[in-house]
Amino acid sequence: VGEGYKAWLRYPPLNLNQAKEYASWCGEIVIAASEPSAVLKNACEELANGIGSMLGTAPQIGGSGKLPRFLRITTGDLAELQGAMETAELEELGEEGYVLKTVREPGREYIAIAGRTDRGALYGAFHFLRLMQTGQSVNDLSVIEKPAAKLRMIDHWDNMDGSIERGYAGQSIFYRNGKFIMDRKRIRDYARMMAAVGLNAISINNVNVHETETRLITPELLPSAAAAADIFREYGVRLFLSVNFASPIPCGGLTTADPLDSGVRRFWAERAADVYRHIPDFGGFLVKADSEFQPGPFTYGRDHADGANMLAEALRLYGGIVIWRCFVYDCLQDWRDRKTDRARAAYDHFRPLDGKFADNVVLQIKNGPMDFQVREPASPLFGGLRQTNQILELQITQEYTGQQTHLCFLVPQWKEVLDFDTYASGEGSTVAKAATGELFDRPLGGIAGVSNIGDDSNWTGHLLAQANYYGYGRLIWRPELTAEQIADEWVRITFGLDPVVVATICRMLLDSWIIYEKYTSPLGVGWMVNPGHHYGPNVDGYEYSKWGTYHYADCRGVGVDRTVKTGTGYTGQYHDEVAARFEAIESCPDELLLFFHHVPYTHVLKSGKTVIQHIYDTHFEGAEQADKLVDAWRGLQGKIDEARYESALSRLQEQSKHAKEWRDVVNSYFLRKSGIDDEQGRTIY
Ligand code: GCU
Repeated sequence: VGEGYKAWLRYPPLNLNQAKEYASWCGEIVIAASEPSAVLKNACEELANGIGSMLGTAPQIGGSGKLPRFLRITTGDLAELQGAMETAELEELGEEGYVLKTVREPGREYIAIAGRTDRGALYGAFHFLRLMQTGQSVNDLSVIEKPAAKLRMIDHWDNMDGSIERGYAGQSIFYRNGKFIMDRKRIRDYARMMAAVGLNAISINNVNVHETETRLITPELLPSAAAAADIFREYGVRLFLSVNFASPIPCGGLTTADPLDSGVRRFWAERAADVYRHIPDFGGFLVKADSEFQPGPFTYGRDHADGANMLAEALRLYGGIVIWRCFVYDCLQDWRDRKTDRARAAYDHFRPLDGKFADNVVLQIKNGPMDFQVREPASPLFGGLRQTNQILELQITQEYTGQQTHLCFLVPQWKEVLDFDTYASGEGSTVAKAATGELFDRPLGGIAGVSNIGDDSNWTGHLLAQANYYGYGRLIWRPELTAEQIADEWVRITFGLDPVVVATICRMLLDSWIIYEKYTSPLGVGWMVNPGHHYGPNVDGYEYSKWGTYHYADCRGVGVDRTVKTGTGYTGQYHDEVAARFEAIESCPDELLLFFHHVPYTHVLKSGKTVIQHIYDTHFEGAEQADKLVDAWRGLQGKIDEARYESALSRLQEQSKHAKEWRDVVNSYFLRKSGIDDEQGRTIY
């Protein structure tokens, strides 16, 4: 097992001072549950192993509470805590919430780790361990937590041949050569990592469902999927599968996949029954339909609601849901056509269907209207849909943000998305509230993230990219956590409590998104990458291709006019307050200027700089700062074990080299197009 494999479950030995306090509580774990489930047993095992590893002595599990201090795991009605806490608080815990409470009684003291369900207690156990991992006192605990979002999901884009679409950390941990690997240990360790950050759902195959994966819902592959589901279940994680909308043809011998065809409906009903025979708590289907050449209801003259509702009907009986993706756009465009705007597409397709989806359908909406760029405005579908369940889709894997060779800590970006005010019901109608269902009181909601996990020994390729997965889980559990808090927590857990180490790595993480933005595509335009694999600079890479046109740079100016007045009308998809802000050049924030407006290179930004000078300056600065990341890391030599030090160092060095390439390609391109020199006369290659 290589360094980094244990990720946030390392539990290194603590120094004596800290250990003393913890040791006084951690001699035994009393279990106050008559028949502990597998989930509860796993919670206890995690506590015992984690504590044992940090303190050197493992607590006795299932003790009788004879010691003067102990840990007590409780589930159920929590009546015993009623004296110590507000009853209302306990009632609101829900299925996944928990309490950590120091209870003092005559002659004994204990820390209650309590949930209404075993899953609640599991999350409580991980919280308790986190307190120890980050060096916090546990003497007077009074913690109550429950997750903001019901569905906290991870989407794997893993293919059964072992490859991962947009994967940058090796091969799939699930499959090889068309078969499940069934490395139970690795999957179990992964399930532990998920539970530790509060995730509760996983889809284990790519949304682009190829031939073999289409058969995941058939008797041939269901037993293997069920074996994976068994492992995840014991950590509170429900399994989902991505399905091919056209499955009735290859798997059912039908000639159509028309959602209104009775044979097709019967096919899906039978598949659902079979899936639930194998996986009784199966979560449901994730569907990419009529998107980037995937099949869908359009072929039969039906709409997305017809398609999604048909699948929802098949799953309803068993409590399953359909997660239907909104990443639908015209990918056969012509750059001369200035009216077709990819940014408009999701809203144009789905807004008219608001209210037409079944209650067990959830629409999964990417954070921005385009495709996981380094900077985009929030999708106007949030706030646009009022009578439809929604899930926010984020991308943890760094497709457009450096592919895990570059450091790019994405939590600050995600926070901006979650905090974005849609004004759908007046001020304070944030994307977070829309996605969790709180805004319009929807029965379902949540957040999904595209996984950055692979079979590399440290899971994420770049060691520091573990922070993105960790941060994703923590943030969607509690969106009010700050990026600083999350970074600090992850660094302590991963690298220990040395203040220099903590401060240095936190700074690196927190600066990294903006650094990456500086040396890549400017002011919200996006792309400028090599087509296909999307790595490295290529300003016109997609500009004339059928997938869409992104910057319209010529000798006069740059940017996309998405205004209602003179452009594609995209700004009109937002509620008035937001629309007005983006529509007017004067109020449009600098960082999104070229997303919304086409301007001359001499246009002066709010920062006081011209657009062209901004491009030059940020690219020089960004590349320099990428160099400084290497220096900062070098300063930690000797303070971090060699293996992890070296592995991150080589990525940071590669980043600093590659950042210069970005700087030179982008600056040269705009120097040539604009004919305007850099005010500072720096060399532009
Ligand atoms: C991006 C990505 C694709 C992916 C698609 C999706 O376009 O490049 O690999 O399939 O998003 O989200 O469906």
